[in-house]
This record gives sequence, C-alpha cells and structure tokens, in this order.
Amino acid sequence: PTAPNGCPVSPRAAAFDPFDRPYQLDPAEALRWSREQEPVFYSPKLGYWVVSRYDDIKAIFRDNLTFSPSIALEKITPASREAQTVLQRYDYGMNRTLVNEDEPAHMARRRELLEAFTPEALEAHAPMVRRLVREKLDAIVDRGRADLVAEMFWEVPLTVALHFLGVPEEDMDQLRRFSVAHTLNTWGRPSPEQQVEVAEGVGRFWQYSGQVLKKMQDQPSGHGWMYDMIEKNRQKPEVVTDNYLHSMMMAIIVAAHETTALATANAFRQLLSRPAVWAELCASPALIPAAAEECLRHSGSVVAWRRIATRDVEVGGVSIPEGGKILMVTASANHDPAHFENPDELDIYRDNAVDHLTFGYGSHQCMGKNLGRMEMRIFLEEFTRRLPHLELEEQEFTFLPNTSFRGPEALWVRWDPAQNPERREP
Ligand code: HEM
Repeated sequence: PTAPNGCPVSPRAAAFDPFDRPYQLDPAEALRWSREQEPVFYSPKLGYWVVSRYDDIKAIFRDNLTFSPSIALEKITPASREAQTVLQRYDYGMNRTLVNEDEPAHMARRRELLEAFTPEALEAHAPMVRRLVREKLDAIVDRGRADLVAEMFWEVPLTVALHFLGVPEEDMDQLRRFSVAHTLNTWGRPSPEQQVEVAEGVGRFWQYSGQVLKKMQDQPSGHGWMYDMIEKNRQKPEVVTDNYLHSMMMAIIVAAHETTALATANAFRQLLSRPAVWAELCASPALIPAAAEECLRHSGSVVAWRRIATRDVEVGGVSIPEGGKILMVTASANHDPAHFENPDELDIYRDNAVDHLTFGYGSHQCMGKNLGRMEMRIFLEEFTRRLPHLELEEQEFTFLPNTSFRGPEALWVRWDPAQNPERREP
C-alpha cells in the first residue's frame, strides 16, 4: 500500500490497528517499534498519520493553526446510515466545544471561562472531594475486598464533576452509561449492531443535556462552571454561543469525569503492583502529589489525541498533506527515552514527570488538570491512611475498546479488616 503522500507503507505500519489487543492493553508498548524505527507513519487501517515521539507530538500541540484540533471529537469510526438516522431522530447537534474549536474563537471563549479554575476556586472543592471519598471508604472499609472502580472511582469523579459544573446530581447511573456510549461513539469501533445501540445512547445523552441545560437556564441563581457559561452566553452570545452551551454540557460531563476516574484506577493499579512504592507513600504522604504525576506520565488515562493538518507540512521528516488526520499517541511520547530516562520505570522521584503530555499541551491544554490532580491526591491520601495494607488481587484487566481513553474496567483489591489502623466501628 501507499500513503497519501505517495510513499510506500511499511509492513508494520500496514498491520497497525489500535483496536487490536496490544494497543488496547498497553499503547506505549504497542508503539515501541514506531518510536524506535518509524516515528511518523500512515496507518491505512485507521486512515490517520500516527505520531509516536515526544518532540514531534509537542511540536504539533504547539502549532494549533497548522494542526487544527477541529477533529478532536469526530467519530473515529464513521457512523453507519442506521446510526445516523437514530442520531437525526434525536436532533443530535454536538459541534464545537473548547477542545475542538479553532482560533481565534477558542481563545476568546477560553479566556471568558477561566475563573472557575483559579487555585482558590479549586481549593474550595477539596473538602467536598474528601468527604465523598471518606463516605465511600466508610462503606467498604470493614469488607476486606472490593472493586474500586465500581465502588468509587467513577462515582466520586462524576459527583465532583457535576458539583463543579453546578449540574443537579441526578440520574448518575444513566450518565455513566451515556458517557460510555459517547466514548465508543467518538473513539471506538462499534460493530454495525452496536452502532445503533450506541447512537441511541448518544442521542438520549444529547436530549438529556438539553433538558438539564434548559432547567439551569430557568434558574440562573445557581453556582458552578455551567452557570458561568450560561451567564457569558447571555452577556456575549457571539463568544459563548447557544450551540456551544449545549455541546459543552454533553462533552464536559465526560471530559471531567471519565478522564479522572480512569486516571485514578490506573494510578492505584500501578502503585499497588509495586508494594515497596505503596509502602513509601503510606510512610511519607508528602510524596503523593509527585507519585500521582508520575502515574499520569506512566499510565495516563488519555493515551492519544487528534489534530488535522491545515496545509502540507513536515513532521519528523515525513510530509503530511493538507487534510491529513493525525493521531498523536501521547502515551508513547510519555515513554520516549529521548525525553524521559528509563521511561518504562515508575519512578516517583523523577524530576521531569510533569513534562508528560497526558493533559495535552499548549493553548488547549486541559483546563481541569488541577481538579483531576486534586482528586487523585485525595484518593491516595485517604487510602494510604486508612487502608495501608491494601493489596491488588490477581486479575485480568479489561478495557473499553477505543483509541484514546484508557483505564481498567474493574480493579479488585483486598485487605484484612482486622488490620485496619482505624476501624469505622471500633
Ligand atoms: C482538555 C485530559 C480532567 C476539562 C483536555 C485535553 C486532554 C485532557 C488530553 C486536550 C488537550 C489539548 O488539546 O492540548 C484530561 C485528563 C484529565 C482531565 C487526563 C484527568 C486526569 C479534566 C477535568 C476537567 C477538564 C476534571 C474539568 C472541568 C477540560 C477542558 C478542556 C480539556 C475544558 C478543553 C480545553 C481547551 O481546549 O482549551 N483534557 N483532562 N479536564 N479538559 Fe481535561
């Protein structure tokens, strides 16, 4: 096969499929060959240019005029006709949010919406996060065994996200199912039968978001980031547009909760599978923020992000034609030995862990990164204090098949309640 730039496609590039097992299990490892031998290649199975080295990916993030983020939320597997019919029935109109908006509209909008993310504004949420984590811990602490994903890793970040946004905390289980449908719809490869089911979920999510938004607009006295947006939409409808409000309502619930839930599950998996490191955190909780950062580098919850070339351009010596779609495998960049020494090692003392690209980079870099970090930190603080003797159970990990969001669907742990340093009912 030949790439759109006329060059032949190597056998490994031709064989690459992000929906195959190796990438689903460990995207950084699955692209080791690429980092070492062919850092920019065209994937005929995906129809994307895949970029795997740190410097190349950072250069792409840095130039969002040449590399537009407009396709960041495009369906990576085009919808079937049946799925499209379903979406039309729901009047589905998800379009520009922040993450897929071009300049200059993006910066004008981002600037209007920064206030909720000041360190003081975020710190004000910390007691709520801690209370939620403690309540969830109270419920399991005497039990001795739990799947932490099911018990709290998705529900706490979802509750925090809704609280941060000012969205009523209702229908949580339904929102969780909607999020999974949205992830599969955007970054997955659902089978033809699955497509229709996923489209139903996405359509209902769109409708639900519209209803909640309407309710919030009718009670403008509430607090939260969505209310900031509603207010800006009133003041500056040309900057914070109506469609933006509705699209954002749907996208942000996922962006704020799924990412953090998966990042926390990844971090606990990595740390608990290294009992000596876990013991160090239990003995010195001051190490927790650095450990969380290193987990975000080593096993981030966002593993790949997209851009489209707005002109003919060279990346790492390979010419990508205008209109070329690009998959930046940030998980691979985070394991690039040219930037991180012994990149496959989880080293909580690493001095440049924070250089990771799990939150993206440049003008679109994750606005909620410090909220995500805070949640991970509080989870770790509470667990190291109350269940230092926690152990990871032997288990097969499974992942929702998609290109970009990664974390185990379940995380089974066990402990001996008799050893709990602090009993709930002594
Ligand atoms: C954007 C990851 C948590 C809100 C992004 C991007 C990534 C990302 C990769 C795209 C960056 C780019 O294009 O350069 C993550 C991860 C999280 C997390 C790994 C948790 C560990 C959150 C939370 C919020 C949030 C809790 C809460 C409000 C946003 C927003 C954007 C964004 C608003 C768009 C920014 C823009 O385009 O200007 N995030 N995110 N994220 N994230 Fe997060």
